[in-house]
Amino acid sequence: MTATATDVALRMEGVRKTYPAGDDEVVALDHVDLTVGSDEIIALVGPSGSGKTTLCSIAGGLLTPTEGTVVMGGEDISRYTPKQLTQFRRDSVGFVFQTVNLVPFLTARENLLVVDEIGPRTGAPARARADQLLEELGLADRAGNLPGQLSGGQKQRVAIGRALMNEPDLVLFDEPTSALDTALGDQVVKLIRHEMKSRGTAAIIVTHDERITHYADRLVRMLDGRVSDADGSPEAALEDPSVGS
Ligand SMILES: Nc1ncnc2c1ncn2[C@@H]1O[C@H](COP(=O)(O)OP(=O)(O)O)[C@@H](O)[C@H]1O
Ligand SMILES: [Mg+2]
Repeated sequence: MTATATDVALRMEGVRKTYPAGDDEVVALDHVDLTVGSDEIIALVGPSGSGKTTLCSIAGGLLTPTEGTVVMGGEDISRYTPKQLTQFRRDSVGFVFQTVNLVPFLTARENLLVVDEIGPRTGAPARARADQLLEELGLADRAGNLPGQLSGGQKQRVAIGRALMNEPDLVLFDEPTSALDTALGDQVVKLIRHEMKSRGTAAIIVTHDERITHYADRLVRMLDGRVSDADGSPEAALEDPSVGS
């Protein structure tokens, strides 16, 4: 898609990220350029170690790049202070991780109301929003259950609800279905697509599962810390045998 300043959720330019490794360094991202439209769903695929999680962590303000710019909402977050980054994460992004990291001693509803770093969301509007999201995600009758009383798919749906609580501009999904069986994984990704498209929210979905790429608007491949600039449809990319898993 051709993107102007107003319909861009994320623009990464010349992003490089290295991690220290003894006396040496690991290059996790090597001059990455990536633009995500404001309502675009990107499937990010590539072999293990290619930099997918690092890319998501930088896009979500969990890590700062070694070099380059990361523009979200018109601002370069790569220059943010830790305090500004905390606020950015709280207000503008949602995260759904591979390992569903729900708080085990809180109910499904309480897991939506708890916010890392700043304490709980409070008040009737927050509770109403949590209940509405749980309803949409088919979990209305599970709102009072602890994570241990939920199936894998239900837990992942609670995690999706939590990521949507702050009405984010961009949601980052890092292998959201890898712990689920095929049918369940398919259901969860269908749900993700529905939730993103009905809100006009952008998403990056990291996956090893090629079937998932059918639910994306665009497929982006990573290899050795670089992204392909492939602008092709997911179907076209799927025919490429070099798509890694
Ligand atoms: N915290 C870290 N410290 C050192 N090296 C890391 C760290 N996180 C990731 N790496 C390295 O960076 C590269 C990219 O990792 P990652 O972004 O996790 O890739 P992926 O999610 O595609 O598997 C790998 O070589 C990995 O070993
Ligand atoms: Mg990863």
